[in-house]
Amino acid sequence: MARKSILTVLMTAAAMPFCVSAQATDLEVTHWWTSGGEAAAVAELAKAFDATGNHWVDGAIAGSGGVARPIMISRITGGDPMGATQFNHGRQAEELVEAGLMRDLTDIAEAGKWKEVVNPPSLLDSCTLDGKIYCVPINIHSQQWLWLNNDVFKKAGLEVPKNWNEFAAAAPKLEEAGIVPLAMGQQPWQTSLAFQVLLVAVAGPDTYNKVYGDKDAELAASDALAPVFEAAVQARDMSKKSNVQNWNDATSMVITGKAAGQIMGDWAQGEFQIAGQTAGKEYTCLPGLGMNEVIQTGGDAFYFPKVDDAAINEAQGVLANVMMSPETQVAFNLKKGSLPVRGDVDLTAANDCMRKGLDILAKGNIIQAPDQMMSADSVQQINDLFVEFFNDPSISAKDVQTRFAAIVADAE
Ligand code: GAL
Repeated sequence: MARKSILTVLMTAAAMPFCVSAQATDLEVTHWWTSGGEAAAVAELAKAFDATGNHWVDGAIAGSGGVARPIMISRITGGDPMGATQFNHGRQAEELVEAGLMRDLTDIAEAGKWKEVVNPPSLLDSCTLDGKIYCVPINIHSQQWLWLNNDVFKKAGLEVPKNWNEFAAAAPKLEEAGIVPLAMGQQPWQTSLAFQVLLVAVAGPDTYNKVYGDKDAELAASDALAPVFEAAVQARDMSKKSNVQNWNDATSMVITGKAAGQIMGDWAQGEFQIAGQTAGKEYTCLPGLGMNEVIQTGGDAFYFPKVDDAAINEAQGVLANVMMSPETQVAFNLKKGSLPVRGDVDLTAANDCMRKGLDILAKGNIIQAPDQMMSADSVQQINDLFVEFFNDPSISAKDVQTRFAAIVADAE
């Protein structure tokens, strides 16, 4: 561990109101932020933490959460914990917390008055187990978005769609013009994300809450939901020529005009940003696919494995405070394309899409993410069903609905 002179640390501390370290500690932080936009955002966290005199040791794992989480979990259960790690809001770290492997942050949260500043409060609830707080919610990332390349529509002699139905109707003309209507990465989570966003858009947030929240399998199997599965068949057909793996490669198809649109979380914004594109100018964002404007309060949180090392423990506390500080919340979220978890920060620099998100949040039109409502295992079963469905045109709308309802029936 490199020791900086206390003087240097104190001088740095003067510049950073939120915290200092009596000593400089290397802290390994694991996460799955490897796309261009994600890397630009995580660099803001590293910069803010390094300014405290400590050192952010970057533990990025490529391949998105589906690849990274099993690696993180096996390191923690295998006795080789990192200093801090990303998970999504909700129940992904539930078993690790129940196994007593994760640090209780309640003292830090109380000292930082997190209950007063975090908005909506449900974000902190997702970090709370048996009255104790085990993570720092760092952003609100809604999955409920359609991203469209404005130029592609103009070139095809079409208006930029105002909702999913107009987009689906434009697909044949887009294909005639040699454009892939819907970009879709082939990782399981991306296909089920598209499905649940269609469910909210076509059937509405109440139905979504009944199916994913109350596990209402009867409703999931009912004729009332048939239009949702027909829309999923449309999406499958519109994305049949999209053969990329990673979500950001699909976003890049939209940015470069190879594809007209993508259903993806607002982390896509980071990619448009580093490509120098402006919301409302080169691209359009439609919350709730322009049909049911809601914000999903999913996103990212950082957990701190228990480590029997005083210096690491102190550095963990410093990082937790850094992540919740107003300065870091603004710097990180503006680059990440997500909304801050603090309701008391200045967001004049927010772009059109973030403004739309903030307005919807202010109206209280929010829903939780599947990760907040279902066990990681049930979420994974739905991921596996929809990656199979999107890759097999012989699976009918009725077939996939029946299989989906069966998963909902057993879901926890
Ligand atoms: C999500 C995460 C986002 C984004 C996305 C793609 O799970 O919440 O921050 O990074 O994965 O990797």
